Amino acid sequence: MSTIKTANTQYPVIDLIKKRWSPRSFSNKPIAEADMLTILEAGSWAPSANNSQPWRHVYAFKGTEGFEKIWNTLLPGNQPWTKDAAALVVSIGIKELPDTQQKNAYYLHDVGMFNSFLLLQAQSMNIYGHLMAGFDKRKLAELLNLPENEEAVSIMALGYTDAAEKLQEPYKSREISPRTRKALEEFTSLMN
Ligand SMILES: Cc1cc2nc3c(=O)[nH]c(=O)nc-3n(C[C@H](O)[C@H](O)[C@H](O)COP(=O)(O)O)c2cc1C
Repeated sequence: MSTIKTANTQYPVIDLIKKRWSPRSFSNKPIAEADMLTILEAGSWAPSANNSQPWRHVYAFKGTEGFEKIWNTLLPGNQPWTKDAAALVVSIGIKELPDTQQKNAYYLHDVGMFNSFLLLQAQSMNIYGHLMAGFDKRKLAELLNLPENEEAVSIMALGYTDAAEKLQEPYKSREISPRTRKALEEFTSLMN
């Protein structure tokens, strides 16, 4: 049985957001290519500064050479559990706007927006994502032959979830530990 970690919210947050979480136990069910493309397209409908869409995404399915190559750039703490993910998605941020050659101060923000939309679309299809910053940036840039104005921002593991018991420690405990957030008052203030 997959783990369910529905957020316990103070206010009536929509179900899609409450149900999303970052699992580490993935089943061997593959993600259909059309589903992956649906998920990626959803990301592209996120807002971005000036509609600049400063992102690129490289994805690979489990069992392919591409998956192996991306997986090899992950840090040791992320490798044991990601080997069972159905897919890995590398999000690349574009640092300079085309034509103008000007710095885009919002590229990290916008890549994050993309991934938020992607995650919620995936969630609606019962596909879970787990974002990672734990990878070797230089190794990944070399692998993808990234030019100067592009930066690998994150790698996301995607797949259908499986039982926590499948995992070794410390991942098993993390899989079942409750999800927590700061209290609303800690990060909000009303200005009159
Ligand atoms: C930018 C970013 C980087 C992250 N890097 C890692 C990582 O390298 N390894 C990992 O296990 N989780 C990573 N996470 C997942 C977070 O730890 C997780 O989202 C957070 O604890 C909240 O849990 P939840 O997504 O289940 O609500 C990352 C998340 C984000 C957004």
